[in-house]
Amino acid sequence: MNIFLTGASGYIGGSVATRFLRDGLTVRGLVRSQEKASLVRALGIDPVVGELDDSALLTREALAADAVVNAASADHRPAAETMLKALAGSGKTFVHTSGSSIVGRRDGGRYAPTVYDDHTPFEPSPARAARVALNRDILAASESGVRTVIIAPSLIYGAGLGASPDSMQVPWLIDLARRTGGARHIGPGSNVWSNVHIRDLVELYLLALENAPAGTFFFAENGENAMREVCTAISNMLGFGGGTVDMSLAEATEYWGEGPANDTMGSNSRVRARRARAELGWAPKSPSLIDEIEHGCYAATDQAE
Ligand SMILES: NC(=O)c1ccc[n+]([C@@H]2O[C@H](COP(=O)([O-])OP(=O)(O)OC[C@H]3O[C@@H](n4cnc5c(N)ncnc54)[C@H](OP(=O)(O)O)[C@@H]3O)[C@@H](O)[C@H]2O)c1
Repeated sequence: MNIFLTGASGYIGGSVATRFLRDGLTVRGLVRSQEKASLVRALGIDPVVGELDDSALLTREALAADAVVNAASADHRPAAETMLKALAGSGKTFVHTSGSSIVGRRDGGRYAPTVYDDHTPFEPSPARAARVALNRDILAASESGVRTVIIAPSLIYGAGLGASPDSMQVPWLIDLARRTGGARHIGPGSNVWSNVHIRDLVELYLLALENAPAGTFFFAENGENAMREVCTAISNMLGFGGGTVDMSLAEATEYWGEGPANDTMGSNSRVRARRARAELGWAPKSPSLIDEIEHGCYAATDQAE
């Protein structure tokens, strides 16, 4: 089976592509430069140099592929629409990558109790309204003869399997802790994020490609932690003794920018991947986030004395 995949040099896309190649699929992967083309070629991906804005290229690649995986952007509407238009009436599969921050609110590091599963109705925050509207349109495109599937990962952790080893939130927290000498969360850090190991996530992409019915949405999650717990593990791992530091939203905004500080670091995103387990037989088995920080791929070799 020939896959066209966007985001081939990225954390999710590179990992999914590597897993697919191991299963005997062939992958043509979109990259933005010759340098990235060399990196992904070394992994066995056939690179296509271009941009998500190049609709002629996306149309050509989608038409030539047996299935498309969109892992470059959860938000780029024109690219998704172009590929869906190319696939219309073909019955082919389009797997889109969204993210569980769609259920988040700007909670400033405070706890929020609401837990969402794949079917829980919700109104998105203004920051995620466009992403949710795109998701709805992608699912609706199943009525025009495309087997559309959405995977919405929660906080992803673990070493990427492709050219990019690093995800977002955990490396950002570790980097900030190293730079400032303390593991910092926003406010009390009681806000909770569900999380999923990259090695488990790529299995879900494979299962979805093989078996997901048209027009289906799957959260990806295998546990949850308060940001304070994540920072405690980082503090232990770096040899800071387990203590953590509260920081203001303004401070967090300086480090990460306004959107990420509010919508990915200070929010709650508590989801349950019921559908992936029940309908696709997904059975995550990788180490927990805390284990991976303290004893796995993030474990420091340069601990403070
Ligand atoms: N990581 C997570 O924890 C997580 C969780 C849930 C959802 N998501 C979402 O999933 C998507 C991918 O995340 P990621 O962690 O894999 O990010 P990433 O490591 O930054 O990868 C993004 C990939 O897309 C490519 N790309 C970005 N914009 C492009 C454009 N305009 N044209 C062509 N290629 C483009 C990048 O190319 P370059 O290599 O040239 O930059 C890179 O290969 C994002 O929308 C993210 O918000 C991520």
